[in-house]
Amino acid sequence: MIKKAIFPVGGLGTRFLPATKALPKEMLPVVDKPLIQYAVEEAAEAGIEEFIFVTGRNKSAIEDHFDHSYELEKTLIAKGKTDALAVVHDMIHKPGSVSYVRQQDPAGLGHAVWCARNMVHDEPVAILLADDLILGHSCIAEMAACYRGGNMVAAMNVPKDQTHAYGIITPGADDGKLVEVTGLVEKPKSEDAPSNIAVVGRYIIDPAVFQTLSTGERGAGDEIQLTDALAQQIGKSDFYGLRFSGERFDCGSKLGFLQANIAFAMANETLAPDLRSWIKDRFS
Ligand code: UTP
Repeated sequence: MIKKAIFPVGGLGTRFLPATKALPKEMLPVVDKPLIQYAVEEAAEAGIEEFIFVTGRNKSAIEDHFDHSYELEKTLIAKGKTDALAVVHDMIHKPGSVSYVRQQDPAGLGHAVWCARNMVHDEPVAILLADDLILGHSCIAEMAACYRGGNMVAAMNVPKDQTHAYGIITPGADDGKLVEVTGLVEKPKSEDAPSNIAVVGRYIIDPAVFQTLSTGERGAGDEIQLTDALAQQIGKSDFYGLRFSGERFDCGSKLGFLQANIAFAMANETLAPDLRSWIKDRFS
């Protein structure tokens, strides 16, 4: 059973400037919830009990979001707004189950994960990137249910001309759902890509990955890449990709973020009818 999850939220979010100048990218809302809250809820659905955030400067809004807001709660009580009060109460976690570690320099996803090393002992740990938002079943719960040790990533087939935006898997045995990872390369050009099976931002990693990350080796974009550290584990322990059942949105990009807002609003029975008729009238 996987009990801990790391949420790397130390990135700069440059593709979303100026929105992300003072606001963490992970606090951008899809409909009415910030991206990071979707990721935390997805992890909780998988039975995760300890939530480790790797933050950076200008990320304190994330800490505040998962804490009490006494002034707000007092006002909601005074006004009898019990539904709103329940919403803010329900997202408070057990004391001691949420921790924060600071990544002083955004030196890459691998570096962010390595910053959490002292909070993880000799146990596998989940990693969730909040900007990969998944509509449908909890992706990390699906992965945890299939996990038998070693390393696992969420996997998805992408158009061949999109491989430069993802870590790409060299597939071994593949039953259509679980695909054995025999090679992994970060952001290859389509002509160099070993397949069109891409890694999406959900991982379960073996603690040995932390040792590999400690070498501080830099890869694509001169960043310390998690993909490279995972690739070095191939042949040493099991490594699988899981094609998850949900629909993934790249909320690190403007188009993906807009699509996510529309898809999540259309999945919301209160909003969907009015939104559908507005889109029909406005754009047809
Ligand atoms: P991205 O590759 O999307 O980078 O990070 P970014 O800096 O957030 O965004 P852009 O590309 O400048 O627009 C993927 C995930 O890894 C985290 C990010 O917060 C995001 O959740 N990350 C990335 C870190 O925590 N630290 C880093 O040094 C880099």
